[in-house]
Amino acid sequence: MPADTWWKDSVVYQIYPRSFSDSNGDGIGDLQGIISRLDYLSELGVDVVWLSPVYKSPNDDNGYDISDYHAIMDEFGTMADWKALLAGMHARNIKLVMDLVVNHTSDEHAWFQSARASKDSPYRDYYIWSTQPNNWASFFGGSAWEYDEPSGEYYLHLFSKKQPDLNWENPQLRKELYAMMRRWLDLGVDGFRMDVINMISKAPGFPDATPQGAGPYHFGGEHFVNGPRLEEFLLEMKAEVLSQYDVMTVGETPMITTEKAAALTDIETGSLSMVFQFEHMDIDEDPQTALPRRSIREWSLPELKEVMSRWQTALQDRGWNSVYLCNHDMPRSVSRFGNDSRFRVESAKMLATFVHLLGGTPYIYQGEEIGMTNVAFSGIQAYRDIETRTIYREFVEEQGRSPEEALRIIHAKSRDNARTPMQWSSKSNAGFTTGEPWIPVNPNYTHINVEAAAADPNSVLSYYKELIKLRRHYSVISRGDYELLMPDHEHLYCFLRSNKKAATESRGAGERMLVVLNFSAATPVFVFPEDIPLAGFELLVSNYPVDPAEDIEQLTMRPYEARAYLLVST
Ligand code: NOJ
Repeated sequence: MPADTWWKDSVVYQIYPRSFSDSNGDGIGDLQGIISRLDYLSELGVDVVWLSPVYKSPNDDNGYDISDYHAIMDEFGTMADWKALLAGMHARNIKLVMDLVVNHTSDEHAWFQSARASKDSPYRDYYIWSTQPNNWASFFGGSAWEYDEPSGEYYLHLFSKKQPDLNWENPQLRKELYAMMRRWLDLGVDGFRMDVINMISKAPGFPDATPQGAGPYHFGGEHFVNGPRLEEFLLEMKAEVLSQYDVMTVGETPMITTEKAAALTDIETGSLSMVFQFEHMDIDEDPQTALPRRSIREWSLPELKEVMSRWQTALQDRGWNSVYLCNHDMPRSVSRFGNDSRFRVESAKMLATFVHLLGGTPYIYQGEEIGMTNVAFSGIQAYRDIETRTIYREFVEEQGRSPEEALRIIHAKSRDNARTPMQWSSKSNAGFTTGEPWIPVNPNYTHINVEAAAADPNSVLSYYKELIKLRRHYSVISRGDYELLMPDHEHLYCFLRSNKKAATESRGAGERMLVVLNFSAATPVFVFPEDIPLAGFELLVSNYPVDPAEDIEQLTMRPYEARAYLLVST
């Protein structure tokens, strides 16, 4: 693998196809819908699109339950549409990264159908069966084991019972998965985002989880997250598939440590380009609650700085970071980390500055670039997500808590916050569909939409375009080292980036950049540290009008203000 790779200089845009753009009025986003928006993505300036699953699926978990890895979901279109999409992207110099869901399939996949039909099926061992289920909880509620009446055995499903886990111990299964990956790569895809890839290796014997709290089922992550054969399986995948193509890979790896992540993403000895870590996503979760999105906890800025800085520095010399604040499983970043009312525009831009000027590959989740916010549907009926509905049931039916309390958590945390339709215009249904959308639109589309943002030079969208362009000009943005300033400040997050490594390279040698971010509605004062040499500075970007010549020894930062400067030391 080359030491310098395109994905280190790329900006990635995630599309959740069901909610992006509907071309045929059935209320469900589709591939032709995406094709019709490619010019938009090209103008935004992104290099890579990560497409959430578009494979054939009964949609128990919106495509993360695949019934045929080689076919396109009926609602999304055909293989011909997919080929046209890929060609349209490549014609615009945009690469396509597909979602790879290989921890589990749908129970409607032919392998599982055959496995279930007979204990003698060659596919039986592609899944995990037991006569004695352990106490593991499924992420989507209840036991992680489902009884299969005809065979008298239980099968494992870490997610819904329609998502049986694959048995990676079976070499024939692994071969089939590698062949499937090669087929997509041969069609021209540029990489994979690998769904819960660090859960594919389970501890031998499936030991019980250590009970936490009441109830019969418990989170058993200690026995299947970063399991014993994970690295071995991924190195095999690299040897069999990935090493033969020039690809970008990003592993979704909940509960990963910096050490493990550095090993997995080591350019020589690792197997993946980068991983998604979740420590900053857990910052507002109660640590006593093992499963995600069931609690809300107050967090402080120094805590966020500690997490992000640890990841920035740990993967600086070995491995590579991904940087994101939102995806299809998370609440909207501006509602979670910023201020989605009075300072929506300012804070969305500040958060963009944060993501795009940290070290690593930045990810934009659809709608983040126009500052889309969380939604607060008034009843559970409007929610579509299997996890959200499960959480509501757990709260109200099992734990006897009030519907209001359940909805309070759901409004803050539900995955459907990120899944309301993309807001293209102020026309009905936000211009997403001419039909009835599969999930209601966020009513704020009348003023938060692409059409309005594209016409406004001060919009969040215009600011994203500026940030993406900056990356092309200053290598310190993608390559510089990271240093945190003022770790304990409650409101300001300030960091330096410096191109030490590039000192011998022609481009960007010795470049240094200062980033000052106000994560609050207060007006704290930034004082330039005395020990940093400073002979001059150049304003690179800011989300408020700024006099570029203003002295930076002391800066009174306005609510959610963000500034980045190039520093001159001699
Ligand atoms: C992680 C995906 O991002 C999420 O949407 C899905 O529900 C689970 N993995 C199961 O595939």
